[in-house]
Amino acid sequence: MRVTPTAEFMLEPVLEPSVLDPNKDAGSSRDAIGLGQRAGKGLDTRHGTILTLEDISVSFDGFRALNNLNLYIGVGELRCIIGPNGAGKTTLMDVITGKTRPSHGKAWFGETLDLTLMSEVQIAQAGIGRKFQKPTVFEALSVFENLELAQKTDKSVWASLRARLSGEQQDRIAEVLETIRLTTSVNRPAGLLSHGQKQFLEIGMLLMQDPQLLLLDEPVAGMTDAETEFTAELFKRLAGKHSLMVVEHDMGFVGSIADHVTVLHQGSVLAEGSLEQVQENERVIEVYLGR
Ligand SMILES: Nc1ncnc2c1ncn2[C@@H]1O[C@H](COP(=O)(O)OP(=O)(O)OP(=O)(O)O)[C@@H](O)[C@H]1O
Ligand SMILES: [Mg+2]
Repeated sequence: MRVTPTAEFMLEPVLEPSVLDPNKDAGSSRDAIGLGQRAGKGLDTRHGTILTLEDISVSFDGFRALNNLNLYIGVGELRCIIGPNGAGKTTLMDVITGKTRPSHGKAWFGETLDLTLMSEVQIAQAGIGRKFQKPTVFEALSVFENLELAQKTDKSVWASLRARLSGEQQDRIAEVLETIRLTTSVNRPAGLLSHGQKQFLEIGMLLMQDPQLLLLDEPVAGMTDAETEFTAELFKRLAGKHSLMVVEHDMGFVGSIADHVTVLHQGSVLAEGSLEQVQENERVIEVYLGR
């Protein structure tokens, strides 16, 4: 039976990173990406579906950015979402993370959590992590400190940094550093990293929270070929343990990671299937891929 979230998800407030973030624009949305304690360990996914969106509509002044959209993501799946500019891909992520409320429709995380009733912070705490296109790491802090902060729940940044880490927490940071290939840059200020490395660090910060579902909006934009290749490798490695929803325009990248692709157009699903299948779809060719 579906139930609304319980007090279990009403945890302490997350730390306010905008204090440290020189980039306030990006910082203002940081609370949506999973800083803070996660409470969703017992997520009920007994039917194998981690995300269920049914009949979702979003209107902006009468304009339908999402239009009766249906989407199902399986546990451990790596799903790519493609589609022309303005198709509604980012709006879709906004709905999942609680940033935008649908005017209509259902959004379930696992079997029991109604995302339409949860705040952005509750959704992040329940296990949905989001990466925005622009990296939003704390440039003045080291790679290690960025990961350390992402793990903490204490509201006070400086208290967090001073607090001693447990052996388990240290191990987790070491593991994530390895995963994002930043072990040798552990003490570098994040501001000195390349654009791609900052993106990897931000993914690492998400991983510190061990989210069940990761949403990544145009993750390889601006990356070098080598960084793009590493991102593909990384996402393939993360799939299975996590579910991933990746929005990307780079078809080479999509082809290298996706086993299942959803094409959005004018706020609805236009086609779904393997990349080969959607690439052969006449409507998809017409509205997006071209001939
Ligand atoms: N807050 C808003 N107010 C009004 N219109 C909006 C708002 N957010 C999005 N839109 C409109 O909704 C439509 C979908 O936008 P969205 O950003 O979701 O597209 P997208 O698929 O992510 O595009 P892109 O590939 O360019 O990133 C666009 O026409 C956009 O102008
Ligand atoms: Mg977008």
